[in-house]
Amino acid sequence: MFKLTNLVRPNIRGMKPYSSARDEFEGEASIFVDANENNLGSMAANQHYNRYPDPHQKELKAAIAQIKGVKPEQIFLGNGSDEAIDLLIRLVCQPGHDQILAFSPTYGMYEVSANLNDVELKLVRLDENFQLQLNKLQGQIHSEIKIIFICTPNNPSGNLINRSSIEYILQSFSGLVVIDEAYIDFSSEDSWLTQLSTYPNLVVLQTFSKAWGMAALRLGMAFASEEVISFLNKIKPPYNINEATQQIALEALQNSARLPEMVKEIKESREILVKALKHLPVVKKVYPSDANFILVEVTDANAVYAYLLNNGIVVRNRTTQPGCFNCLRISVGTKSENGKLVTCLKNYI
Ligand SMILES: Cc1ncc(COP(=O)(O)O)c(C=O)c1O
Repeated sequence: MFKLTNLVRPNIRGMKPYSSARDEFEGEASIFVDANENNLGSMAANQHYNRYPDPHQKELKAAIAQIKGVKPEQIFLGNGSDEAIDLLIRLVCQPGHDQILAFSPTYGMYEVSANLNDVELKLVRLDENFQLQLNKLQGQIHSEIKIIFICTPNNPSGNLINRSSIEYILQSFSGLVVIDEAYIDFSSEDSWLTQLSTYPNLVVLQTFSKAWGMAALRLGMAFASEEVISFLNKIKPPYNINEATQQIALEALQNSARLPEMVKEIKESREILVKALKHLPVVKKVYPSDANFILVEVTDANAVYAYLLNNGIVVRNRTTQPGCFNCLRISVGTKSENGKLVTCLKNYI
């Protein structure tokens, strides 16, 4: 049975969060001399940058809540979703004792955050189609495992993970199930966001770094029950989302008409790229993708990687990843970039 208060580390349950100057004031005022800011202005072009940003990102969360169909209280905003990954581990895992579980090959930050927090990462292999093997979970789940991370569409394989397998885990695991949907906008399936009210142990991660094209701003989202989110807010650094990011993201949310067009174009380009790659002698296999990248098995990943680099094209060499021997991960670029990549690979001998 999932019970969040049992899962949260005892030191966090009783911990008092940092109370910022702006937390301690409510109402109207004209003189702010409460936060040791520079009241004369700023060296930055925007003179308002002399003030600390809203620690609760109220306006931004209200706008995100509207487009995602959740309550603002169900949203945590992080300095990239990487911050949410780290804080979730810190929230429920006792360093040196608890563990998390993920399915390999997958996104590398689960491991980095686990290592940083002295939390052991159990990796269970995906099958040859990069799907969950539930039978391999038998005997692996014990009370020290506090989080299961599922990345769908998965990085670096690009495929969606079967819904029924995820449902099984959500129903049977009594820790947190974190579904990382960084690439969901490029996929043919719906987000797990609609299931938040069904599963109290579900956390969904999304990001502004991919489809929204705002990787430089570092803005990630975690969606969960109000209870989980209030704990994340309690332990986050007070001003983790800077003012520029909050403002620009708000503007982007209000002017997002281009988003579906861009996503459509990237998905169309992905299909054209898949077809072209399949015809190349250097390519042995193109894995199906529901993301904005494609995993491609080539004759010799190290050699092809070096060859492309020599021609000014950088891809990601994933050959050392489990199940990815001789595989390159290629992001879908502009039409012109994709064309140049294919031409270059055509000339590979
Ligand atoms: C699966 C997955 N999750 C999370 C992230 C990190 O996203 P962010 O830029 O929001 O930290 C990435 C980035 O590549 C990713 O591939």
